[in-house]
Amino acid sequence: MRALHVLKETFFGLDAVQKQVLIGSAVAAGGVLAYLVHKRRQIQTIPLGEGWWGAGEKPLSEDYKIYPFKVQTSDEEIRDLYERIDKTRYTDPLEDCGFQYGFNSTYLKKVVSYWRNEFDWKKQVAVLNKYPHFKTRIEGLDIHFIHVRPPHRENQKVVPLMLVHGWPGSFYEFYRILPLLTQNHGGIAFEVICPSIPGYGFSEASHKQGFDSLAAARIFLTLMERLGFSQFYLQGGDWGSLITTNMSQMKPQCVKGLHLNMFMSTRGFKVLMSLIIGPYLPFLVGLSREDVRRLFPYMEKNIWNMLKESGYMHIQATKPDTAGCGLNSCPVGLAAYLLEKFSTWTDMKNRDLPDGGLERKFSLDDLLTNVMIYWTTGSIVSSMRFYKENFRSNPDNRVDAKTPIYVPTGLAAFPAELMHCPKSWAQIRYRNICSYNFMPRGGHFAAFEEPELVANDVVQFVKKVEKF
Ligand SMILES: *[C@@H]1O[C@H](CO)[C@@H](O)[C@H](O)[C@H]1NC(C)=O
Ligand SMILES: *[C@@H]1O[C@H](CO)[C@@H](O)[C@H](O)[C@H]1NC(C)=O
Repeated sequence: MRALHVLKETFFGLDAVQKQVLIGSAVAAGGVLAYLVHKRRQIQTIPLGEGWWGAGEKPLSEDYKIYPFKVQTSDEEIRDLYERIDKTRYTDPLEDCGFQYGFNSTYLKKVVSYWRNEFDWKKQVAVLNKYPHFKTRIEGLDIHFIHVRPPHRENQKVVPLMLVHGWPGSFYEFYRILPLLTQNHGGIAFEVICPSIPGYGFSEASHKQGFDSLAAARIFLTLMERLGFSQFYLQGGDWGSLITTNMSQMKPQCVKGLHLNMFMSTRGFKVLMSLIIGPYLPFLVGLSREDVRRLFPYMEKNIWNMLKESGYMHIQATKPDTAGCGLNSCPVGLAAYLLEKFSTWTDMKNRDLPDGGLERKFSLDDLLTNVMIYWTTGSIVSSMRFYKENFRSNPDNRVDAKTPIYVPTGLAAFPAELMHCPKSWAQIRYRNICSYNFMPRGGHFAAFEEPELVANDVVQFVKKVEKF
């Protein structure tokens, strides 16, 4: 009380100018402090931006309605496919090479014989249509998606969830996980939205240059808004991982949680240190024993494998239209190009098997259905162009861009994923990891290969976030 009194006396003892200076500096100091606190608390986001990707000039108004859609086929489409298959020219594989030189053509002939004689596209089209499909126009493109609601049950919380596929996959990757997600999990069930990335399958391809993961992210945010969802969960691997991450960076207030089955770290001092010290004193650099097992020897497990497996990426990121022309005309070439990835990315050791281990995890019906989605829509070239657009030196979307992700994040680390990313590395970008699990088996196409493991991991993550 006494101190306050002295302060008051001193203040009233000052002349008018001195008073003004004092009050002025107090206000300024307070302002700076408030700004600093605000800046620390403020969540960094990436700008939403805008775009229009249709052909020609942007029209004055666009149709925002949502239309039901059905996958269709015709006898003519199937006749044309068979004619082309029958005209394929094969090259004999080298002796004892398994899948080391790419898709073994002896085994390829087996796959093609199944495709030609047993695979029934009309039946698979009926399978595709068992879930409701829709299209709606966003930024000048017809965007395709399936929208599956869980059956109505008493006392059930319905949670919206978007699943985003990658390359060389499609929305069909999710056909086995869908029924698991719409089940009731102790009071929670998902309402699932699976869009096709523009230029993939039934979503129209951009007519203009520059359509990258940021554009796809913005379009999918608009889609969720149009469907009436103000808050939702996201899940993805491959391109789906980038797109859903960017969605979380653009509108964190809409994303209740982000679940990824492929995720990468940014390079930096922390990563470098754990590579040097990790093999000897992993605990010092935040690596667990399982991290060490999956990371080292680093050159062999991560660098060489990446070099051996990323040739396709270089081609697609530079001259997609050149390589794509042949693939879009020859169904067997397209199947070899796409299915080789389902062999190696499921398990690198599959390269040493005569049949690429393709049917260990997948049925030919499922694999060929995915190929047919690319074939019948003629979307291989536009799917490849997405690499070029994402690897362009667009300064707004560099892989090492620094905007962190603040939304609750669940990470599922599958052992046969192309590169392992320890939790301590992921934390550099994903600042709010609620769940990080080493999955017992599975590779790059997690939802397609191990639907149950992915579904269970998503459910436990969402329950954690919802405090269910
Ligand atoms: C290619 O596949 C065939 C059929 O599966 C197999 O018999 C053959 O050994 C494979 N060729 C090589 C070189 O591995
Ligand atoms: C979009 O997400 C990807 C994948 O995480 C990331 O590499 C990229 O930097 C993100 N874009 C921006 C602008 O942060």
